[in-house]
Amino acid sequence: MKILGIESSCDETAAAVVEDGSKILSSVVSSQMATHSKYGGVVPELASREHLRAIVPAVRMALAESVTRAEDLRAIAVTEGPGLVGSLLVGMTYAKALAMVHRLPLIAVNHIEGHIYAVASQHPVEYPALALVVSGGHTHLYEVAEGFRYRLLGKTRDDAAGEAFDKVAKLLGFGYPGGPVVDMLAAHGDPEAVRFTLAKMKGNTLDFSFSGLKTAVLRWFEARNMEDEVAARRQLLATNLTPSLEDWLRVTPKATLDVLASFQSTVIEELLRRATRSAEEIGARSLIVSGGVACNTGLRRAAVEAHLPYPIFFPTPALSTDNAAMIAAAAFPKLVRGEFADQTLKAQANLALA
Ligand code: KG4
Ligand code: ZN
Repeated sequence: MKILGIESSCDETAAAVVEDGSKILSSVVSSQMATHSKYGGVVPELASREHLRAIVPAVRMALAESVTRAEDLRAIAVTEGPGLVGSLLVGMTYAKALAMVHRLPLIAVNHIEGHIYAVASQHPVEYPALALVVSGGHTHLYEVAEGFRYRLLGKTRDDAAGEAFDKVAKLLGFGYPGGPVVDMLAAHGDPEAVRFTLAKMKGNTLDFSFSGLKTAVLRWFEARNMEDEVAARRQLLATNLTPSLEDWLRVTPKATLDVLASFQSTVIEELLRRATRSAEEIGARSLIVSGGVACNTGLRRAAVEAHLPYPIFFPTPALSTDNAAMIAAAAFPKLVRGEFADQTLKAQANLALA
């Protein structure tokens, strides 16, 4: 049973064909990085415009690569939310039109549930599981009970972890998105060099906060004279959208590598501390880490080195960041249950999973 998935909640226009909930026949992601990088973040109006441009080719390519005709599909799945409403609308309107024209059922998928399925559909996850969804928009801990029933255990009170990576990178002149470049350069710095304090949470101690850490990096930056260094990196980015490690190392002194490494290791510690504590509390039999920040090599290494008493599953890098295969995968159980949406479906910017 093949499902066409469509995802357009943020800055990637994605389409994929997935068979029986786990076999990914195609997964096309059209990234808008080049559009947003010069602004240091996603510009919603530009995102909607880029989705409009990319959606038809992305769907066509996903069908062609999987050698699927519309009549071979059993359903069209689309992200309902959360996300940028103008971006969501593009994917949703196109999904509705396709469903109507080809007389296919429409399935609404929560983007966060998609991130969880990016792992759950590809690995032998045992339940209850603890899911840490960590991206540019979310830093959430969920209990995932048998049958995919969710309970929110903790979430960020301010910035998402990916957002903290992006803001620190922007401040220091590393462009957008910040996660991949900080990850690459952190490996060349000393994570013990700068001591950042961990967030102490009042109330729900499983909640996260990254604004204090972000401010601490800002203070570190302000205490130094870094204009020339930052200008050199901006100059590099102006001539090359994707500098190599060597290019970056040429314009990044040791002290900056150290602050990146220290920042990243603090974020990792915040994430793993709370994820492992909540996993313990619910008696988790697996730990799922998903979302764009799950690409982080330092996080992956620290998770393995923690020698946890339950298996920990990460998505492949391609399934970590936004994609439509995870949307089509999450839609499969809904297809089996006959849980369909109709043409009145609305994009929901703040849709909650639990
Ligand atoms: O899941 P995603 O593609 O979009 C959202 O739903 O937000 O996540 C994008 C986020 C960005 O903030 C990006 O900087 C971060 O994931 N990211 C990383 C890495 N790769 C992407 N953060 C840390 N390390 C990485 N290697
Ligand atoms: Zn996402």
